[in-house]
Amino acid sequence: MCGIVGYVGKRQAAKILLDGLRKLEYRGYDSAGIAVRNGAENAQVVKTSGRLKALIEKTENGKNIRGTCGIGHTRWATHGVPSVANAHPHVSGNCAGTGNGPVESSVVGVHNGIIENYAELKAKLMSKGYSFYSETDTEVLVKLVDYYYNKYRIGPIDAINRTMVRARGSYALALMFTDYPNQIYAARKDSPLIIGKGEEESFLASDVPAILNHTRNVYYIQNHQSARIEEDRITFFDLNGDEVFLPETVIEWDAKAAEKDGFAHYMLKEIHEQSTAVRNTFNSLVRESAIHLEDFGLDQSILNGISHIDIVACGSAWHVGVTSQYVIESLTDIPVRVELASEFRYRNMPITSGTLVIVISQSGETADTLAALRKAKQAGIPVLAVVNVVGSSIAREADYVLYTLAGPEISVATTKAYSAQLIAMDLFAIQLSYSKGFITREKYSYYIEEASSLPEKIERILLDKERLQWFSSRISGQANMFFIGRGLDYSVCLEGSLKMKEISYIHSEAYAAGELKHGTISLIEDGTVVVGIMTESSVMDKTFSNMIECKARGAYLISLTSADHPVPDEGEIDFQITVPATDELFLPSLAVIPLQLLSYYTSVNRGLDVDKPRNLAKSVTVE
Ligand code: AGP
Repeated sequence: MCGIVGYVGKRQAAKILLDGLRKLEYRGYDSAGIAVRNGAENAQVVKTSGRLKALIEKTENGKNIRGTCGIGHTRWATHGVPSVANAHPHVSGNCAGTGNGPVESSVVGVHNGIIENYAELKAKLMSKGYSFYSETDTEVLVKLVDYYYNKYRIGPIDAINRTMVRARGSYALALMFTDYPNQIYAARKDSPLIIGKGEEESFLASDVPAILNHTRNVYYIQNHQSARIEEDRITFFDLNGDEVFLPETVIEWDAKAAEKDGFAHYMLKEIHEQSTAVRNTFNSLVRESAIHLEDFGLDQSILNGISHIDIVACGSAWHVGVTSQYVIESLTDIPVRVELASEFRYRNMPITSGTLVIVISQSGETADTLAALRKAKQAGIPVLAVVNVVGSSIAREADYVLYTLAGPEISVATTKAYSAQLIAMDLFAIQLSYSKGFITREKYSYYIEEASSLPEKIERILLDKERLQWFSSRISGQANMFFIGRGLDYSVCLEGSLKMKEISYIHSEAYAAGELKHGTISLIEDGTVVVGIMTESSVMDKTFSNMIECKARGAYLISLTSADHPVPDEGEIDFQITVPATDELFLPSLAVIPLQLLSYYTSVNRGLDVDKPRNLAKSVTVE
């Protein structure tokens, strides 16, 4: 996820662009850049890596770049590490890799989104004589527009439309064409983009906060539509190049609410972004109905050489490891250990040859996980990292990296990054199993097809959120809660319990259901809330029995089951949660969603700071 802005009017553009990017830093903050044109002069491009502050300093807050038309970008890296060369704006020429000064290019552009077929498009453009200065999909997109613009010479909208037909993926695109001064061109598919209209000036942005200080009159451009933006008029086009009408919307939000897309907290916004995070991560690993780990160095020979797996992580990422242990071991004969990084780094444990260490980390900076990675590498063991932040320490030091495409996750309590890690590990397990001959081609295709249905099923669960919000008031006064389950359900208990305790401060424990009777059941008393997660049909009856044992001691029972395996005896349950049916290997991806919502609403009911819980940091970069 990145942030893009644009301005054309009578005022100096640079400072307006920088102010807009400040409002969008939550969308990405590893590099930034602006391109500004003064009349018909070539665009001046300035790019920096690191936070937006570097760009503001370099441009003296926009004072040293003249011009009344410009575009800007703040980046969350998906293709290519954070660097000046990879920062946007990107150009159709080849000189702006360093990102400073005027550019001799017919097209200059910024982009938010992911171009899935950028590799084939890049090869096509190279065969046409284009060369590339960056690792990004965006440079490919800008050069593709340039290619069509120069080949057909019918103008910017035609070139953009041809590009939209050819490029696969998501984009919010803003372009300037040297032949068309004082105009910005925009196009959209799936990534958010709004166009704002002021007094003799127009704006473009990924999100409302970037332009709310200038205008509340906006247009929501639709998928496969493009626009020509001038200071005194905005014209919209469809994919045929025909002009279309868009209604003007007046924004009622205040600026603070707008930063969260109208959601009350980043956590709730990120819970709602999970289907996109899962879909983008899935699409980055799967194409033409196959999982392509070889794109990340994990080719057939590497996979077939794996005889043991050690998964090492912290917190929620460790919970993903627990889930993955069950998934990998059910799909292969490979023994999997799951270790807390803070333990792994100090234990003297034998690591046999043929072991692959997998470290999982949203931030890619967690000190314990980084230390564990270094320990494995010192022992000569290859390390695969599953990471959300491109170019992070763990990503840089691992032998192989699978990036989760969840975008920046602001809330301390992870949700969308956790879900993206789950799908990445599921796909790794399926490919490993198929590569080693444990599953047939049919079963392989079935699993991929089933996994592809998860985003839509996550969306369906979110439709039930009001019911969970209502119910959360029933448990908000609790002092203790227990989450119990077996197998994959136990791994979901771990995450559900952590979510609840870290943002609502209710003491909560996750327990293997069969373990309760070995001591902890002594804590169950009248009114104690017990959440029984029973999506694994083979052990559902056993967990249900454990829930009844708790009920006999006064517990208040919440059940979580899948639609195709309902609760054995509904009369015994005080509150039921049901998630859509899917292959049981993937049910953790669905079961966790209601638990995230339950913990979120409970925290809100308790009047707590959901996004910044006490004592916690988003990334624990110290021991
Ligand atoms: C989860 O909600 C917490 N924020 C925490 O447990 C987190 O998962 C853990 O600190 C690991 O962080 P990482 O994924 O960035 O390594």
